[in-house]
Amino acid sequence: MASQLMFRGSRFLLLVLVVASSTLMMDTTTAQLQYDFYNTTCPGVEDLVRAELLALFAADVTLPAGLLRLHFHDCFGAGCDAALLLKSHNGTAQRDADPNSTVRGYEAIEAVKAKVEEACPLVVSCADIMAMAARDAVNYTQGPAYAVETGRRDGNVSRKEDALRFLPPADGNVTVLTQYFAAQNLSYKDMVVLSAAHSIGVAHCPSFSNRLYNYTGAGDQDPSLDADYAKNLTAKCKPGNVATVQPLDPTTPSTFDLGYYNNVYNHRALLASDAALLNDSLSGAYVQLMTNASSVDVFFADFAVSMINMGRIGVRTGTDGEIRATCAIYVD
Ligand code: HEM
Repeated sequence: MASQLMFRGSRFLLLVLVVASSTLMMDTTTAQLQYDFYNTTCPGVEDLVRAELLALFAADVTLPAGLLRLHFHDCFGAGCDAALLLKSHNGTAQRDADPNSTVRGYEAIEAVKAKVEEACPLVVSCADIMAMAARDAVNYTQGPAYAVETGRRDGNVSRKEDALRFLPPADGNVTVLTQYFAAQNLSYKDMVVLSAAHSIGVAHCPSFSNRLYNYTGAGDQDPSLDADYAKNLTAKCKPGNVATVQPLDPTTPSTFDLGYYNNVYNHRALLASDAALLNDSLSGAYVQLMTNASSVDVFFADFAVSMINMGRIGVRTGTDGEIRATCAIYVD
């Protein structure tokens, strides 16, 4: 039986044992991920991880968003193998790439890993802890509870160019975004569904300032932006402001809910990549469907499935990769 996760206040408990709706290509490596991989080698590890995270989340309510994005950037970087955590003296690791410059939560994963090492030395991978942390982050912010597959092992190669090549651009339209997801064997639907991770967390002004000040290169504003929302954003993000952050979901910034799709539908999406979902008939239809509060069950089930799909990208299993005592070591 897959382990189940329950946070107090959680509205939903989804048990996702078999993922059938994915277009993911299964290969021998991905087939080896399984539920409760550590059942005998480190019993209770998922509870331990969750307990550690709960304390960290209580101290920093913005951390769940950081950890959700951390897992995404690791998986897209060159597989979910914790290579994003590795460091380079020469600035050549994934974490040195521009798209990773505002990624956060590295210390939290290291802190959890240290606790896990005390309980079960050299058994549990950093990559699995990242997948559990992303799952716990979603559930902590009142999103779905779902079981994660485990059995990933860690990579010891981290290349800046992988992050540059594989992470989707914030100004990508649906065609571009779909291509970036397809490159990871993720479907169009995975793209539309996983974009709703932007139901929590923040973006820095440079991630969307083109929409305010230079949309087509002629000093103009994105005409699709809701006027009041645009006015508010321009007041907060003056040209050249690189430090200020704005919530990705201005309505319910710390709650994982349908607010994201409501904002997209009402032209109050922060990133161009989010707004783009409304410009394509198929994704637009999904966005519209999700503006109905009764769609929340469908959304939560879809999100759980797509997170599991994402967690399978390029995983190392069996004898591939390694289990390290420390996640963030220098590799050059
Ligand atoms: C569809 C393509 C995507 C694009 C173009 C994109 C782009 C971005 C950008 C530009 C930011 C703000 C960075 C900053 O200014 O600091 C951001 C934040 C975030 N992204 Fe995405 N993202 C995408 C998909 C995803 C996915 C699939 C997930 C997770 C499953 C995710 C989770 C997050 C979270 C949680 C944040 C907030 C992080 C924080 O508060 O520190 N994103 N994303």
